[in-house]
Order: sequence, then structure tokens, then C-alpha cells
Amino acid sequence: MTDPFPTFPADFLWGAASASYQVEGAVDEDGRGRSVWDTFSAEPGRVVDGDTGAVAADHYHRYAEDVALLRDLGVGAYRFSIAWPRVQPDGSGPVNEAGLGFYDRLVDELCAAGIAPAATLFHWDTPQAIEDAGGWLSRDTAERFADYASIVGERLGDRVRMWMPLNEPVVVTMFGYALGNHAPGRALGFEALPAAHHQLLGHGLAVRALRAAGCSSIGIASNHAPVWAASGSEEDTQAASAYSTLVNWLFADPVLRGEYPAPELAAMVPGPVVEDLKTISEPLDWFGINYYRPTLIGALTDGGEGHVEGAMLPPGLPFEPREITGYPRTDFDWPVVPDGLRETVALFTERYGDALPPLYITESGCSYHDPDPVDGRVPDPDRIAYHDAHLRALHQAMADGADVRGYFAWSATDNFEWAAGYRERFGLVHVDYATQRRTPKDSYHWYKSIIG
Ligand code: BGC
Ligand code: BGC
Repeated sequence: MTDPFPTFPADFLWGAASASYQVEGAVDEDGRGRSVWDTFSAEPGRVVDGDTGAVAADHYHRYAEDVALLRDLGVGAYRFSIAWPRVQPDGSGPVNEAGLGFYDRLVDELCAAGIAPAATLFHWDTPQAIEDAGGWLSRDTAERFADYASIVGERLGDRVRMWMPLNEPVVVTMFGYALGNHAPGRALGFEALPAAHHQLLGHGLAVRALRAAGCSSIGIASNHAPVWAASGSEEDTQAASAYSTLVNWLFADPVLRGEYPAPELAAMVPGPVVEDLKTISEPLDWFGINYYRPTLIGALTDGGEGHVEGAMLPPGLPFEPREITGYPRTDFDWPVVPDGLRETVALFTERYGDALPPLYITESGCSYHDPDPVDGRVPDPDRIAYHDAHLRALHQAMADGADVRGYFAWSATDNFEWAAGYRERFGLVHVDYATQRRTPKDSYHWYKSIIG
């Protein structure tokens, strides 16, 4: 017998999340400019099966149907992202009214459905023109990003209830610029560090721009997870700690403490770093954690090669990821470790103490290769088990004293899973990509019953 599902506070925010390039499609419509993901996914061999986001879940045209599904689900908030190249096709200069108009309509539709709009400003679809000018390696990108933030803030600030300038700067830095298995496909190793600093600076400048535009409730959606050591040996422990510094604290410390976690790292990023850190640590109303799975790290073995997500780590790094065993795995081959969510939240409350604003889990979810719908049903018991177990673990973290205000399931509908294309399905709602028919999965009905 499992214990009854725990009771969450009455004002706990239940949400679902998505991102522009993963769901919208309509890449050539209404004056949208190119993004780095259009370019990257068009290159042979970059994305599984040659998939691209050109059509995706066609949310650009079907947003009203998707909002109706969210309304019936009963979520209090919908986290979506705004495509910078729709608002400013080249990432700077005049506003493309038709592009911004789409988000104006989406936000109105959400408000009419009684759902709080929660907007991410950058979920990886950098305008190609910005990338051509250096992308996140260039300091100027942070300034352009702040201009874009004020345009959006001024237009939507009266209705958007939660703001996240950035989604997962660690993934853009690591996969986009250090390893090259995500757009823009650069494999620069440690030379990618400026991309981290400039995203963080862009975050801080955007927070200020949003506030100046009258927006409130501003946070971030940052990816975090425990880094476990492969053994109790001194070498493995140090390797795990070094890795955690790079993937967790390099991004959270500047925002929450106004400093880099190691002087060596501060010395490796460009610009007036001390001054920039004041901007980066602009106080937030809340901090959003995206959680999927822990990482297991060992010291580099002789002749060993580190791989992350199939991409080789640059030579010379003192650590290598190891396989986590002993847990169930999703069809994306990720281990299912619910307690890792509790552990992540506990790491944050311990590390930052009173400096930590309220937390939201801005993403958590799993990919299973669900069966096609039969008679309007998609049984997905493993996805139900995933969210059930992660919410129980989150409840434990709250019982231990963490101030967590909400949970956003990744994702509302199936969508374009970046380099893994459409094979991976994270949605509560099944999408048949041939017909664009939506079918709520069993997990949707389960989540609805939890929201109550
Ligand atoms: C996912 C992250 C995950 C990371 C590292 C990425 O593809 O988006 O959530 O933590 O891989 O494992
Ligand atoms: C990202 C999403 C992605 C999910 C699953 C997160 O890292 O924000 O865009 O689809 O993980 O990989």
C-alpha cells in the first residue's frame, strides 16, 4: 500500500510548461526572423531523424485549443516562452508587431481562461543575426536582450504574472557553446565561459528592464541537480565537487550571492566582473529550479574519455560522467530519482539560507515513448509514477522546511525535444504529428485529480 498523496498548501501553484521553438512551428510566419535552432536543426546529423521545429505542435495556430486543454486541466499557471526572433527578427531594432501580437493574444486567451501567464524571455532560440554577431560570447548580446525585455515587459507586463528572463543558462553554455550538441553547435570547451557570464549579465539587465517596465514577480528557470561522487575516494569526491561548481554554482551563486563560486572562474570571465555581479544579483522575487536527474561523476580514469549526452568533453577535464544504476529509467534512458529533487531543494536551502527567495519547480518531467491513442486514451502509467513520486519528494522537502510555492510539469503537450527530435515525448497531452490531433494522456487526468 502506498501512502495517500500528501496535501499541498491551498495556494500552491500547479502549472505546466513549454517553450516557443519546441511547440510553436510557424517559423516563417508573420515576419519571424531565423533563430539558431532553425539553422542548427537544418544541418544534417544534428537532430535525430533530421527533425526540425518548423511545424512542431503547431501551437502558433492551435494556441486556443491548447489553452482550453490547460483550462480543463485546472492549472493555475502556464509557463511558455516568447521567441525573441518573433519580436525582433534580427534581435535588435524595431518591433515586429505581428510577432509580438501572437503573445498578446496568447496572454489574453490565458487570462480569459483564468490561467496566470508565466513568461520565459529566452528558451534558447537566439536570433540568428545576434549569433552571427557573436551570440552569447559577445557582451553586446546582454544589452540587446535587455532592450528586448523592455519591449515585451511594456506590452505584456499588465497581464503576465511571472517572468523568467532565462531558461537553463547551463545548458546553453555547456551544450550550445562548450560541447556543441545543441545550437549554435560550438565546441569551445572552457572558452565557452563568456557565454555563461553574458547570459547572467543579460538576466540581470533584463530583470532591471522588466522592473522599469512595471513588471512584478521576476525569477529565473535554472537547471539544477545533485552531483554524486562515483565513490568515496578523495579523487572522485573532488571531481564531483568540481563538476557541481560548474553546472550548479557557476549559475546560482552569481544570481543569489553576487559572486562566482571560485576565484579561478571569476578570473576566466570577461568584462568588469565585480560591477557586473551587482547587476546579475539584482534581487529576485523567487528562484525557479528545473529538475530532471542527478549526475554521477568520477575522476578521469587513465585513457578515459568523458561524455555528456553523447558529446565528448574537451580533453583535460579532471572528471567524467558515469552511468547511474539501480534506478528505473525513462525511455530517454534517464534514471528516475525522485529523491534527487528533495536533495536539490535541500542543497539550495542549506547553501543560501536567508538569501534564498521562495522556490518554484519551474520544470520536471519525463519522456516515455507512449502508445498511439486508442479510443481517445493514452495509458502512461510510468509518467504518472514519475510526477507522483517527484511531488511526494518535493512535499518532503517542504516538510523539512523549504519554501516551495509551485510545480510546473514539463511539458503541457509533446514537443520538439531539441537534438532528440520528436521521438521523445514529455507531454501530459499526446500530439499526433501527422494530424496535430491532441489526446490527453492518463497522466493529464491524474494531474487534474491532484490539482483537485
Ligand atoms: C536536459 C537537462 C538535464 C541535462 C543534463 C539536458 O538535456 O535538458 O534537464 O539535466 O540534459 O543531464
Ligand atoms: C529544457 C526543456 C527540455 C527538457 C527536457 C529542460 O532542460 O528546459 O526545453 O525539453 O529539459 O530535456
